[in-house]
Amino acid sequence: MAEILREGNIFHLRNDSISYVLCGMPGGVVAQLYFGARLERVNAANLLRHAGVPADGSFDVQESMLDRLPQEYPAFGLGDMRQGAVAVVAPDGSWAVDLRLTGAELPGEKPALAGLPATRGEGSAALRLRLRDAHTGLEAELDYAIYDDCPAVARSARLINGGDAPLTVERAYSLCLDLPDSDWELVTLAGAWARERDICRRPLVRGFQGVSTRHGASSHQTSPFMALVRRNTTEFSGEAVGAALVYSGNFVAAAEVGQFDTTRLLLGVNDDGFSWLLESGEAFQTPEAVLVYSGEGLGGMSRGFHRLWERHLLPARWVGRPRPVLLNSWEAAYFDFDADKLAAIAGAAAEAGAALFVMDDGWFGRRNDDSTSLGDWQCNTGKLPGGLSALGERVRAMGLQFGIWMEPEMISPDSDLYRAHPDWCLHIPGREGITARHQFVLDVGRGDVQEFMYEAVSRTLRESGAAYLKWDMNRNFTNIGSAALPASRQKETAHRYILGLYAVLDRLTRDFPDVLIEGCAGGGGRFDAGMLAYVPQFWCSDDTDALCRLRIQYGTTLVFPPSTMGCHVSAVPNHQTGRTVPLETRFAVALGGSFGYELDPRALTEAERAELRRQVAFADSTQSLRLYGAFYRLLSPFEGDDTAWMSVSADLSEAIFTFVRAQARPNAMPPLVRLRGLDPARRYEVCQTGEVYGGDELMRVGLCCPLAPQGTGDGCSVLYTLKAVNEA
Ligand code: DGJ
Repeated sequence: MAEILREGNIFHLRNDSISYVLCGMPGGVVAQLYFGARLERVNAANLLRHAGVPADGSFDVQESMLDRLPQEYPAFGLGDMRQGAVAVVAPDGSWAVDLRLTGAELPGEKPALAGLPATRGEGSAALRLRLRDAHTGLEAELDYAIYDDCPAVARSARLINGGDAPLTVERAYSLCLDLPDSDWELVTLAGAWARERDICRRPLVRGFQGVSTRHGASSHQTSPFMALVRRNTTEFSGEAVGAALVYSGNFVAAAEVGQFDTTRLLLGVNDDGFSWLLESGEAFQTPEAVLVYSGEGLGGMSRGFHRLWERHLLPARWVGRPRPVLLNSWEAAYFDFDADKLAAIAGAAAEAGAALFVMDDGWFGRRNDDSTSLGDWQCNTGKLPGGLSALGERVRAMGLQFGIWMEPEMISPDSDLYRAHPDWCLHIPGREGITARHQFVLDVGRGDVQEFMYEAVSRTLRESGAAYLKWDMNRNFTNIGSAALPASRQKETAHRYILGLYAVLDRLTRDFPDVLIEGCAGGGGRFDAGMLAYVPQFWCSDDTDALCRLRIQYGTTLVFPPSTMGCHVSAVPNHQTGRTVPLETRFAVALGGSFGYELDPRALTEAERAELRRQVAFADSTQSLRLYGAFYRLLSPFEGDDTAWMSVSADLSEAIFTFVRAQARPNAMPPLVRLRGLDPARRYEVCQTGEVYGGDELMRVGLCCPLAPQGTGDGCSVLYTLKAVNEA
């Protein structure tokens, strides 16, 4: 049960598993005292003494104690030499900020964040601190929430210009967490297009370290996430503190080890290329940052994030619901299709038992390759006579739902839209525009552009009767400037874009609540908690090679649950790597997320098509276990040739287990993998073999995984389902 205990100026946020403690110091600076496993009682003197505060509690900002003090929302420039969380330029040109506590409230429920996605507050306790900087009149509201059912705390800040003169916000992070030691390792995610979310782990060193993006999106290259883990923390044990930002644009996630070997963790909108003009009375809302604590290793941290997103962030109507097994036309046809070809592919998908057929890129304007027509969202009736409605009907007549691809945030220079509205894209007047994939980025911060996007998408959904939308976004920002903003506000462009994107998604998801939207950004280039507040799943990567996907999906699960990952079986040789992986392994790997196909079933043998029918039936029958069970990573593809993971149902009566050996190993004993999360007192039948083992045995001894006969080649796999049995 979440609660907020207040003793004087000490605030103790806690639930059954974690505590977060902060304290208003004499004079009003807000100190941070603790985040970690639940505390029964707090005697702040201990921690304050560690931070250099004298035993009598006297505290003097003038005597430069700030550089030692752990703080909630510090600024650079008045004694704290570490990186600050906030910087605001006053009319006199100074940018120091000194926020002091003026009040604290316990709002009945967690307040929503204006214009930004955030975790929902049902079953949480909320705290709001009010602070003020006397010199500038800047006010801050620091919002906190702690949940009944997750080891997590959410934080955000709202800056208000309470003075008479304009202020310019140059930095407004969402989170500062000051930890009293530096005996940590930093875990981040790193990647590239088609190689998203490698897990990187490195010891903290004195100084500044972390990840950030300037791509305009949270990016393929990293993720708005970081974790601190103890040196001895493993997947299964030890402390882990995870932090994630509910945001889809440029961010910074950093750790600074200071001169006294303390660690400051910072997370927020990237201040590089950012500023925000606050006229008197105006406010700036930061995105929400969430902290998750685990005493059960990285696995425990991940399950904490998964539960938080599932219960408090993902669109509620899609959580726990089965996702239709789909076939997407992209790798089956690319741009080379007409209605008959699509109908034939859809027919083969229906025969396999799929529930949804998705028409990818190439259906609009004059789009026969990627050089043209983004923005001209009218059906190409040369390719699809009868338009979207006719194709939608034809697909539905086969018993399938129809889905469609769009890239609403983009504009091709060769498009009617660009010819009509050359100023609608991000650009800097007088500088040559830089295309990527032959396209520019719309200036989504503009109201007229948002209206256009909403109209284009809603018309397309209505015309096609689509039950599913793949919302793509295929390039990063350059020439960042907006024709709609004055010079003094140009650095607001990238953040306004994200606010505009959220506004459009919010409106569309309200107006089309039954349309399942899959996010996509050239694969997983914007796979973040901000997007997941609107789209319950995201195309994990443009790399569909099953062995590459092992790393991509494994890394993604560090923060996000299986249900959020779009994972498809594709053809061999794989289109990205040229590799051939057995069909059963491509299937086993794609089952790791929201399952589908990315191939033309007509090109398969009769035996393979029969196999597809079995696969679809299995994927359907294991949906809720795979997508919503408690997820355990067992063997890491970053540490060896073998990868394994499993999911366990909430009542511990069922589990699904997958093992993949990337490289064949001659003369090897069959792998023995220790399972996790089962009930040690129950007995489980391995459904594929009929053998029964104790839960304790499976977890302490392991489950032997005989691989296909030696010589079968790379990429062998084992896929087992387990069911608790009553047998004595
Ligand atoms: C990038 C996506 O990730 C692909 O799946 C596909 O939709 C293409 N864009 C289409 O242009």
